[in-house]
Amino acid sequence: MISITGAQFGDEGKGKITDYLSTSDTLVVRWSGGPNAGHTIQVEGKQYKLKLIPSGALRSEEVMITGNCLIDLGKLIEEISYLKEEGFTPTIIVDTNCSLILPMHKMQDQLNDAILNIGTTKSGIGPATASFVSRTAITIQDVMNHDEKNKIQTYFKLHHIDEQYFDENINETKKLISLMEFKNVVLLKRELIIDIIKNAKNVIFEGAQGTMLDINHGTYPYCTSTPCLASAIPYVMGIGDLQIKRNIGVFKPYVTRVGNGDFPTEILDGPVKEHLQSIGKEVGTNTGRIRRVGWLDLKALKRAQELNNFTELAIVKLDVLTGLKTIAVLDTFGDWWNFEGWEEDITNCKSFSDLPENARVFILFVNYAIKQIKFISVGPNREQTIEIKALENK
Ligand code: GDP
Ligand code: IMO
Ligand code: MG
Repeated sequence: MISITGAQFGDEGKGKITDYLSTSDTLVVRWSGGPNAGHTIQVEGKQYKLKLIPSGALRSEEVMITGNCLIDLGKLIEEISYLKEEGFTPTIIVDTNCSLILPMHKMQDQLNDAILNIGTTKSGIGPATASFVSRTAITIQDVMNHDEKNKIQTYFKLHHIDEQYFDENINETKKLISLMEFKNVVLLKRELIIDIIKNAKNVIFEGAQGTMLDINHGTYPYCTSTPCLASAIPYVMGIGDLQIKRNIGVFKPYVTRVGNGDFPTEILDGPVKEHLQSIGKEVGTNTGRIRRVGWLDLKALKRAQELNNFTELAIVKLDVLTGLKTIAVLDTFGDWWNFEGWEEDITNCKSFSDLPENARVFILFVNYAIKQIKFISVGPNREQTIEIKALENK
């Protein structure tokens, strides 16, 4: 079993690495977050954008949505239709224990964020999680049992919401019927989900968001509301002895952040900021917001490694640094280092030794701090991925 986890503030390229490592018989599992995530996968130059459906959907016969995932039925239905139109119809197993995001949650997210200014995706994540922990969440199971009315009423009372919104929320839960009309969707209870995972040959747990956005260990309150760490997987899945042998942490050789909150290495102005944003196409998949950018923060990355217990790392978007004269890095002790950049196009490099010397020096420095880099991504396409056995540190 493999887990793929964001080591920074999200958008590290988890989707690309998940797609790269998936085969037709891999079961790819989304276990946390909701449609706040946006994973872009590029195959033969064509981009596919997914929110809740695991990135394995383009390659695997079976994908799964379970654990702490929050489901917006309207958005999920749109995503399934989109995939179908693009010619992908993997079996999508959906855990009926998952909580739903309802219009009331999205409305509340808007209202809350106008005051809190976290810069959420307004997908209703915080309020839907609040429903869950205050034990008023509506699960798919509740809708199937027609138990949703009572819970919505309780929620309305708890939050002093006007009854006029009631019908809208009830109608949303009824969208479940259309979900069931998709022949490739299978709704299963948690016990069966666990059985499937235990018996699957290859499983990839695809993370959403990133370590620094984790509800417990991220930059609270400027974070998301769900767990993002690999160490949370056995707990949320309810499989204490889950044997995840490979914990892959994904990071970029610079840092991006959408939304507000602490960003120690942020570049506030100037040509490097423009370079990273334009060459890196750093625009949020989900909200269309331009991502804040900054230099690589090895101190934070080291912390991410400790939190997740990564067994290997994937450095994604190395090609975006091409053309920069100097590349700065904050080391694990909080000191700044400057590296000479490179001009050569690296997007066709197939091995570590194909990379220009300055790129190799940079990678070796990073690897010295946070061993072990096993993947170097030099472009958005599947084949633009270099796998390395072990890097020699000098
Ligand atoms: P995720 O949320 O972690 O899955 O990441 P996103 O999909 O939100 O953002 C990563 C973006 O970078 C996507 O648009 C990818 O197509 C793109 N990408 C992935 N790997 C590379 C790479 O090596 N080089 C470049 N230039 N783009 C990449
Ligand atoms: P992927 O999976 C980047 C950020 C939001 C905001 C904060 C809280 O694509 O890496 P929320 O809507 O979750 O309450 O917003 O978290 N955020 C993400 N940033 N990538 C994501 O997902 C994100 N999901 C949430 O921008 O700052
Ligand atoms: Mg993303």
